[in-house]
Amino acid sequence: MKIKNMIVYISFLLISNIVSITPLVAHEGAKGIVKERIDKFKMSKKMMQTIHKSIQNEDFGTIEKSATTLYNWSKEMIKFFPEGSDGAPSEASTDIWLDLEGFKKAVNNFELASLKLINNSKEKDFDKTVDAFRSLAGTCKGCHKKFRN
Ligand code: HEC
Repeated sequence: MKIKNMIVYISFLLISNIVSITPLVAHEGAKGIVKERIDKFKMSKKMMQTIHKSIQNEDFGTIEKSATTLYNWSKEMIKFFPEGSDGAPSEASTDIWLDLEGFKKAVNNFELASLKLINNSKEKDFDKTVDAFRSLAGTCKGCHKKFRN
């Protein structure tokens, strides 16, 4: 390959990489507490990706640390959902406030699942850690199904 073609090829790769890792700006205009909780959820997704990778590497220390970050978020999550903070650009469902007990239960499931992952990774038990990770992911999905538009 000629040098010039090579340079064109490499810059093409770089550009397509940047495009594919830039998320769609779905929440343009989110402000205040809505933006704060969206940022926390973005962080949650990153934590889950980190845990997934750390399971493959059997890096229990990183799993425990990431699960602790999620646990701390679960403890304060309710505060980030003041009544009436739904509506575009938020994807929060009005059902959060119509069924506040159900929402609190979903937060509690998330809290317990993250705690279990903390404990199992402390024990460095691979199978239990994988199980706890799956359950934790289930609590994310479970809440989204009911309480995210
Ligand atoms: C108790 C309910 C609940 C739990 C548990 C929960 N979420 Fe969410 N999540 C929501 C709600 C509600 C929204 C919408 C927030 C908004 O737009 O105001 C959301 C939004 C998101 C978003 C979208 C952020 C964006 O860019 O718009 C991601 C990603 C996400 N959650 C990931 C996760 C992950 C990963 C977990 C588990 C580790 C998790 N969530 C656990 C309720 C929950």
